[in-house]
Amino acid sequence: MALTPFLKVFLAAFIVVEMCTFQAIARSIPDGIMVERHDKWIKQHGRVYKDDAEKSKRFRIFRENVEYIESFNEAGSQPYKLAVNMFADLTNQEFLASYTGYKKVSLPKTNEATPFRYENVTSVPTSLDWRKNGAVTGVKDQGFCGSCWAFSAVAAMESIHQLKTGKLVSLSEQELIDCDRAGEDQGCEGGFMETAFEFIIRNKGLTTEANYPYQGVDGTCDTKKAASHVVKIKGYEKVPANSESSLLKAVANQPISVGIEASNDLQFYSSGVFTGVCGTDLNHGVAVVGYGVTGNGTKYWLVKNSWGTGWGEKGFLKMKREIKAKEGICGIAMEACYPTA
Ligand SMILES: *[C@@H]1O[C@H](CO)[C@@H](O)[C@H](O)[C@H]1NC(C)=O
Ligand SMILES: *[C@@H]1O[C@H](CO)[C@@H](O)[C@H](O)[C@H]1NC(C)=O
Repeated sequence: MALTPFLKVFLAAFIVVEMCTFQAIARSIPDGIMVERHDKWIKQHGRVYKDDAEKSKRFRIFRENVEYIESFNEAGSQPYKLAVNMFADLTNQEFLASYTGYKKVSLPKTNEATPFRYENVTSVPTSLDWRKNGAVTGVKDQGFCGSCWAFSAVAAMESIHQLKTGKLVSLSEQELIDCDRAGEDQGCEGGFMETAFEFIIRNKGLTTEANYPYQGVDGTCDTKKAASHVVKIKGYEKVPANSESSLLKAVANQPISVGIEASNDLQFYSSGVFTGVCGTDLNHGVAVVGYGVTGNGTKYWLVKNSWGTGWGEKGFLKMKREIKAKEGICGIAMEACYPTA
């Protein structure tokens, strides 16, 4: 039976009204309870606001975030959960401006990258977790500094060093922030993993975290500390872009530095397999330290982040693997690279 035009308009209007009603009743936590929750959260995270105006502004953002997080989790429509974490009083824009720091650079043709050594790898295990092989240092925290690029590069370097020597040594991001200054990398203002590897090659290595500890602010290069080149790399290579199958061959052999777009829900991710929404405008550097398949058959990448252990799955993240788009989830297969040793 064909619907008359009148009936179609009537039904369309009805559906719209239904959807709006649903949204309107979705959530509203009374002010008093929310104020209490905010105060508790402030204590828990040691947050200090400069005045009452700042506090009420932060309260409004906190409330909006909490309401979003709770209605998202209640809906249960995605295979991941969100949590009211340490970033709960920041808008997504503020968050991205302060806690990421990935800046893609167009490298000259004379760059040091050598060809992809894993192109002919034919068999890879169905799942792999480099943490279980003792090849991944503990999760670190970049803090209020756009230094993700340094953490991403250092994570991959720590791992290849462990795989070659059997020794897991935590290495210095601060050395990259302070000393990798002649080129494109700009400390807390952002940088790029490939140029970090080029710096480390020219610098003849990197010193340890213990010798040159993380400060989370731009500093002056301590050339004495930087002169102790404890760990070296031979070079670095790029994974062919937009190929999750190439990324898999690479990760099967060592942890890999990747760029992702860390927008939207990633701010509050707490567990499960992240499925987006995110685009491919890369703004964050992380390291892929494994991959696997969940109980119900969802394939994922295992990712080490640098937002501390209070975020995500004790600092780690699962991201959906083998999606339709060739760029991979959040562009994970677009700009992948790794050091060689
Ligand atoms: C696996 O389970 C999650 C939620 O538990 C669901 O969102 C997802 O669609 C499931 N995947 C498959 C392949 O069944
Ligand atoms: C992969 O195999 C092809 C064909 O045998 C060969 O030309 C190429 O050099 C190999 N690549 C690597 C990285 O070993």
